[in-house]
Parts: sequence; C-alpha cells; structure tokens
Amino acid sequence: MIAQDTIVLWNQPAAPGYYRMGLACATGFDTARPGQFVMVRTGTEATPLLRRPFSLLGLIREGDRVTGIEILFKVVGKGTQRLSRCREGDRLSVIGPLGNAFLVPETCRQLILVAGGVGVPPIRFLAQSMLEREGGFSRCVVFVGGRTKDDLVCITEFDLPGFLLDVSTDDGSQGNQGMVTRSLEKALDAGPADLICACGPSGMLKAVSVIALERGIPCQVSIEAMMACGMGACLGCAVKLQDDETRYRHVCVDGPVFDAHRLAW
Ligand SMILES: Cc1cc2nc3c(=O)[nH]c(=O)nc-3n(C[C@H](O)[C@H](O)[C@H](O)COP(=O)(O)OP(=O)(O)OC[C@H]3O[C@@H](n4cnc5c(N)ncnc54)[C@H](O)[C@@H]3O)c2cc1C
Ligand code: FES
Repeated sequence: MIAQDTIVLWNQPAAPGYYRMGLACATGFDTARPGQFVMVRTGTEATPLLRRPFSLLGLIREGDRVTGIEILFKVVGKGTQRLSRCREGDRLSVIGPLGNAFLVPETCRQLILVAGGVGVPPIRFLAQSMLEREGGFSRCVVFVGGRTKDDLVCITEFDLPGFLLDVSTDDGSQGNQGMVTRSLEKALDAGPADLICACGPSGMLKAVSVIALERGIPCQVSIEAMMACGMGACLGCAVKLQDDETRYRHVCVDGPVFDAHRLAW
C-alpha cells in the first residue's frame, strides 16, 4: 500500500449521478485484488479534509503491467461532487490498495455474485478475475439490483463467457420487478451454489446473508463504514462479530470483505 499522485485518464458519466474514472498510477497495484479499495483525496483545498474510500472497479493494464485503476462512484456529497468535476490530466492523491479481498476457494465451481446499486465495482472486478482463474469454474450467476434502471451501472460488463446475468429493479423499469434477493432465492431453489459474494446496501447484504445461512451456503460480503483514515489508525470503522464480542474489528483493515455469517447484523 502506498500514497501517490495519480493522473485522471478519464472521468465519464456511467449513468445518471454515477461516474467512472480511470487513474494512471505509477506503481503499487500489480497485486490488487477484487474487494480492495483506495482512499482518494477529492480536492486540493482543505475541504473535504478527509480522503474518501472507493472500491476498485478494475485494473488498467498495458501488456503484463498494471498502469492504473478504475473506480465507479455515485455523487452523494461534497467529495464525490468534486470528483465528478475532475477532468483528464488532473492529479488526485490516492492511497491503496487497502483492505482485504474476496477469496474464492479453488474448489468453488458454482459461484453466485450479488450487486446492489453502487455495490457493483468489487463484484465487476471479481467477475473479471474469475475469467483468469486457474481451473476455471462451471457456472457464475450475477444478480444485479437497483431502485430503478438508472441505478444499473456497468451491467453490460457482466456479459462474459460462462456468466448468466439476472437484473432486478424495485420499480420494474428494467429486468424483474422486485428486490434482487427474490430472484436470488428463486435461483437457489432451482440449483446449488458453492459460494455467494455480495456488495451493496446493508439491508440487501443482511437479506443475502440470511438466505445463504438458511441454505448452508458460504457467503462473503463487502461492507461499508464511515472511514476517516482507511488504515486502522482512527478506529472509526469498528464492527462486531457475533462469535467474538470481546473485541471490535475494523472494516478498513480486517475487511471490507467479511464472512457474512460472522457479522453481528
Ligand atoms: C470500503 C468502501 C468502499 C466504497 N466503495 C464505493 C464505490 O466503489 N463507489 C461509491 O460510489 N461509493 C463507495 N463507497 C462510499 C463512498 O466512500 C461515499 O459515498 C463517499 O465517501 C461519500 O463522500 P462525499 O464527500 O461525497 O459525501 P459526504 O458529504 O461525506 O456524505 C454524503 C452522504 O453520504 C453518506 N456517506 C458517506 N460515506 C458513507 C459511507 N462510507 N457509507 C455510507 N454512507 C456514507 C453520509 O452519511 C451522507 O449522508 C465506499 C465506502 C467504503 C467504506
Ligand atoms: S477508517 Fe480509520 S480505523 Fe478504519
């Protein structure tokens, strides 16, 4: 993990209120994995003072070398508004890669991925990395959900060999009408899964975790917390595990990916 000045390669609208940004990084991301995140300084002025965390959407490669990273962000406040105004050639200070990653065991043949709203980035990175996996996989079903079709970002990127995409929106404006968890339940009733990996709003992650637990399926979730430092110094991102109530874990260093069945939802 290092801090470095990166250069904005592109910053393009990906859906209403969402931007996709490419950053050239001199070094540090060769071994970055899906689930890891970066802390980005969103402006040169004092406000916002704190860096903001963003999951890696993917790596930019030139041949065998990793030359940059991509992030995808939703504009929600001051920091993301500033990011949305960045132009090609601007410099942004980035620390990363930070945190842990999704861990798909070699024995996993049937993988289920679930992404809700702005939870797409690490799931997209994980899907891409499955294609490079030694030994491959038999089947991967990706469930993507959003409130409306405007919250479905980068879904065409799940159009990958061996992947099945299942889209849901709360209002039915695209795909199945209803929550993404309803489609997930239907699919699990119809066929087995070795592992579920999910990222999205905490209500969705809790529901996915219950569904997995009821069926005895291992489940990893990437969770969010308010983060000031991103590297274990401020202790602001504490969570409790239900099987170890004696000490807190920190989302930035012990996560953001956790075994869903261990979290005290
Ligand atoms: C590990 C991690 C990975 C993340 N990955 C992504 C990503 O890939 N794309 C993306 O768009 N966002 C991601 N986020 C959330 C992102 O960091 C926040 O949206 C961002 O920091 C908001 O900054 P802001 O200055 O625009 O908003 P602020 O002005 O700081 O806040 C605006 C509103 O957003 C809420 N908010 C701010 N940060 C968070 C947070 N971490 N969790 C929940 N609510 C928050 C605030 O409570 C407030 O209501 C991630 C967060 C974490 C912890
Ligand atoms: S954000 Fe500071 S300890 Fe996690």
